[in-house]
Amino acid sequence: MGGAPVTRTVIDDEDTQGLLRFGYRDLREATYVLLRVRNAAAARAWLGSARLTSAVLCPDAPDTALQVAFTAQGLSALGVPVAVINGFSHEFVSGVNEPSRSRRLGDVGPDEPGRWTWGGNPGTTPHVLVMFFARPGKLQSFMQRIVEDVAWMDGFEEIRRLTTTDLDDNEPFGFKDGISQPEIDWALRTDAAASRIGYDNRAALGEFVLGYPNEYGKYTERPLLDPGPATRTLPSALDAPRRKDLGRNGTYLVMRQLRQDVAGFWRFLEDQAKGDRALAERLGSVMVGRTKAGDPLVTTAPSASQNDFDFDDDPLGATCPIGAHIRRANPRNADYVGHPGWVGRLFAALGFGRTGFRDDLTSSVRFHRILRRGREYERALSPEEIGAGGDAGERVERGLHFVCLNANISRQFEFVQNAWAMNDRFSGLPGENDPLIGNHVATASGANTFTVPNENGMRQRVSGIPQFVTVRGGAYFFLPGLRAMRYFAAVGSA
Ligand code: HEM
Repeated sequence: MGGAPVTRTVIDDEDTQGLLRFGYRDLREATYVLLRVRNAAAARAWLGSARLTSAVLCPDAPDTALQVAFTAQGLSALGVPVAVINGFSHEFVSGVNEPSRSRRLGDVGPDEPGRWTWGGNPGTTPHVLVMFFARPGKLQSFMQRIVEDVAWMDGFEEIRRLTTTDLDDNEPFGFKDGISQPEIDWALRTDAAASRIGYDNRAALGEFVLGYPNEYGKYTERPLLDPGPATRTLPSALDAPRRKDLGRNGTYLVMRQLRQDVAGFWRFLEDQAKGDRALAERLGSVMVGRTKAGDPLVTTAPSASQNDFDFDDDPLGATCPIGAHIRRANPRNADYVGHPGWVGRLFAALGFGRTGFRDDLTSSVRFHRILRRGREYERALSPEEIGAGGDAGERVERGLHFVCLNANISRQFEFVQNAWAMNDRFSGLPGENDPLIGNHVATASGANTFTVPNENGMRQRVSGIPQFVTVRGGAYFFLPGLRAMRYFAAVGSA
């Protein structure tokens, strides 16, 4: 998944890891290595010598790219002072597996951290995430050069090597993915805090890069340090020029290993459709909110791109159900449903806004965007294998290494996950959560149905939806700027 190339930015491109800006779509091979620090001095030596790929725009994408991120536990293992770590956001410091957070994220039952293969408790939480990207055929030699480095071998213990596969921009259920991404205002062209009427895809730079104004026109919390020898190379904070900004040009990276039961998904759809494959595919599309080819279900102008739409003409979800995955993950119709004229805007400004049932969820979409950078793992299943119940009786695990970037984990990723995807009261839809990614744990309210209204306002309810996606691991990381990375590499030696 990646964004369109950006030509001009106000960020310091040389100080920013390229994943934020490019997504490395052309580098179709990738492996994520999860490490724990074995020897802090050797680990820091490796970090100091690692040649991270920056966000500098080159005429051609590079052949390989290397990106590095840290958990709070990892920063501590490297020797970063507690006072500095505590300057990062609470959710980063306390981690994704903190019990009350797990409840809010829906990580319960089969998804609970105690069952994860990594990241579920302090003993299995990685310290460092190293992401390797390469053009086809180049990944192995690129990785080998790095993992055979003496400082790497002395400094780290490898706890997981998460391989990925190139499914040609489809996710394992077979739907085109990576279409919708926010358009980041890299050049700070617009007043981030200005009110906006109607949905548009722009997002303030500070929503995705720390150290710049966010959608509120404010700066998201991050460690601001005193000037001194240890912080000499760090950039100054734009909002506090006397302080050194450890967060600037960095961001938070959320990683979740999501297992997908592909055979179970298609078997369920075919059962519902009584064996009619076209109907099964149609039901899958309404659950996702797009066709397998990625076209939105709502009507768009003939020349519109696959991402150029909102739900204004489909207020009741007759075309794209309100509970469909993409409609929960980004309800789109921004501040005011139905684009009111100046009288409506004046009324709203005076506090006499509409009181329709959808207002609470549509008023704040611009504050809850995420930049998705995930990749799939394991090969795709053929229709024959699906018919036979999967390969090797489902022993092979396949799914999505979900990765998203955001400057405020609680307001962005966690909000999308808990207030929209897992919420079994979302938009007047009691008893159901996200049909695709929901934890369909049987609760008093159900949480395993899916409502599909039609044009006549009649509701069809699909019930007994099994769980198709299971969380297998996860962690919250900080993806630093390159100067912050040098600070981490030198910490303790100054
Ligand atoms: C295995 C799990 C998942 C699968 C199979 C999946 C699949 C998809 C697909 C097929 C799309 C449509 C393509 C596109 O618009 O780019 C999509 C969009 C999206 N997904 Fe997921 N997804 C998964 C997990 C998640 C999670 C965990 C989140 C966040 C909590 C998420 C958030 C989004 C968002 C924000 C969009 C774009 C919506 C829009 O702007 O229209 N997805 N996903």
